[in-house]
Amino acid sequence: MRARGKPRRGRTEAASPGRPSRGRGRSAAEPGRATAGGHARAERPEDRRRRAPAVGAPAREPRRPPARPAAGPPLAGPWLWTTRQGAEGDLAEELGLALGPGAAEVVGPALVRSRAAPTRPSGGVDLTFARCGFREIGLPGGAAVRARLAPGERAFELLRPHLAAAPCWALDAFVPDTDLDNPLVEGVGAIGRELVALVAARAPEVARRRVELAALRHREGIVVLLCLATSGLHVGWVAAAEALGLAPGGRSRVRVPGDKPSRAARKLEEAFAWFGVGPAPGELCVDLGAAPGGWSWLLLERGARVVAVDPARMRPDLTARRALRHVQDSAFRYEHERDDPFATGEPADWLCCDMAWRPLEVAALLAKWGRRGAARLLVANLKLPMKRKAEMVARLRGIVAEGGWREVRTRQLYHDREEVTLVAHR
Ligand SMILES: C[S@@+](CC[C@H](N)C(=O)[O-])C[C@H]1O[C@@H](n2cnc3c(N)ncnc32)[C@H](O)[C@@H]1O
Repeated sequence: MRARGKPRRGRTEAASPGRPSRGRGRSAAEPGRATAGGHARAERPEDRRRRAPAVGAPAREPRRPPARPAAGPPLAGPWLWTTRQGAEGDLAEELGLALGPGAAEVVGPALVRSRAAPTRPSGGVDLTFARCGFREIGLPGGAAVRARLAPGERAFELLRPHLAAAPCWALDAFVPDTDLDNPLVEGVGAIGRELVALVAARAPEVARRRVELAALRHREGIVVLLCLATSGLHVGWVAAAEALGLAPGGRSRVRVPGDKPSRAARKLEEAFAWFGVGPAPGELCVDLGAAPGGWSWLLLERGARVVAVDPARMRPDLTARRALRHVQDSAFRYEHERDDPFATGEPADWLCCDMAWRPLEVAALLAKWGRRGAARLLVANLKLPMKRKAEMVARLRGIVAEGGWREVRTRQLYHDREEVTLVAHR
């Protein structure tokens, strides 16, 4: 049965982001029957008395020190990182937590420098709040002026040994994504063309090894980066295998064509691209916090079956689709083994979660799914309205990992705002 009507009374409030209900919350562990379509049995008066206020979230967790995600050896720097404008403090905090106090400094809007790059035990740079980063090899301003070199020439001199040693290379000439720096985009384009012309003229064998940025994905090459900011021209390089991504300037804009119910679909598409895997046709996805249905729509477009769990209303055309069942209830009450409206008797392939709810409680819920083995793959968008976001992210990762989820990774993706995306698998 699919729900089309209004959400049941007392539950719509829960659906409002940023409006956690007051009073005694109903614990995630408490029994409570979620119903596909939200009308399996009529509500009795004693239900109303017993019912949790709005969403049945568990009580707040006691504060404990942040769990440190497991780490690999740091990569020596200096490294320069770009971030979302306004997230410089979060990135500097994150680098400080990983590398020690004083390891990072904010260089300017959307730019942070650090003495090293933190990594995951399995390799690869591990940062949530950076969009792209590179080993900086020339400090801007004074040196170039003293050497009386034009910016392209200066970049060529700095990059020459790295280009000569690389099996192939690509150029990323970009500006930080800020109101101040965006107008510099033509300037950095001109410096990039100057660099390419110099390489062609003075090192033709190196010029022949140049490839497109996206083509580095499966190659052992390097990206050379020119970052023109109001603070100057920053020059450097990064091995393709160490790069946080290969979108120019770390801006991985995603377009999702079609009649989607919300722009949130772009976040999920970007998350799948970053994760490197997405749902295949026929796979079963549970979408927690699904309304009005942007994520569910995208999952359906990919041919998946979807259990959409949300006390709020889904866009009606979605609930009319045979491949979607709306469980109009709190995700804290839904138990897949018991409530799966498709009655598969199987764990879900995917657990997707975009609930607007307190992140520690959402992380505990995701951990519970992990402990039960109720899903194989996880993509979650965690809302972070608080100030010290990096410390919170470390705690959230620890909680999710304790639930048995492996290779827990987090990134503030291009389409994320005051939130981060978390992926993991079992
Ligand atoms: C950002 S919106 C989700 C947008 C959705 N992913 C989309 O693509 O359209 C957050 C949703 O979380 C839901 N939500 C809040 N608390 C919830 C809970 N306890 N259980 C399930 N959903 C909840 C809200 O009702 C709201 O629809």
